[in-house]
Amino acid sequence: MAEHIHPIFERLVSREEKQNFLNQKAAVFWFTGLSGSGKSTIAEAVERQLFNRGRFVQVLDGDNIRTGICNNLSFGMDDRKENIRRISEVSKLMVNAGVICLNSFVSPTDDIRDYARSIIGAEDFHLIHVKASVEACEKRDVKGLYQKARAGIIKGFTGIDSPFDIPSNAALVLDTESEEKEASVAKATDYILSHI
Ligand code: ADX
Repeated sequence: MAEHIHPIFERLVSREEKQNFLNQKAAVFWFTGLSGSGKSTIAEAVERQLFNRGRFVQVLDGDNIRTGICNNLSFGMDDRKENIRRISEVSKLMVNAGVICLNSFVSPTDDIRDYARSIIGAEDFHLIHVKASVEACEKRDVKGLYQKARAGIIKGFTGIDSPFDIPSNAALVLDTESEEKEASVAKATDYILSHI
């Protein structure tokens, strides 16, 4: 099939020109962590901080993406991988348009996160681990999903009966059990500003 496809990237306005236009360097800042760890809360606050400083930013997160482009995918491992593949391809397009992406996805395994890194390109991919124990996330249970997982209503829930590999290669770790939201947001914002 690929032989009948003719990409035209070289005729388009380049990423560099778009970055210059936006006065920023594009990249993907990928927040991984358990459901309820605080990924999206932090990503949303960081987006506001960066936007207020004149950066052009987009948050992509699991609950939104899974109601649109990935609304036909389950939480089985193959579908989670397909979820991450689509998000990574979308992020790559965004990066080519000069946009700074803040991606908030459970992305539970090293394999899945490495896959995202390989699609996006290591030089544009920054892994941020939003760290909180299953116990802490379960205690928060903002969406009531842990209770449903314990009751067997949701099967294959990350941290309960589906794995989460603690990332060993995160560029930044935000421990939302031991630090306040503002501290995590400030750390992430500083890290991102120093890489864009
Ligand atoms: S991922 O594993 O494919 O990266 P993603 O980040 O898109 O997951 O979606 C996770 C969100 O879906 C969670 O925050 C939670 O609200 C919801 N969810 C529903 N079922 C599950 C499940 N079985 N495991 C994890 N999250 C789930």
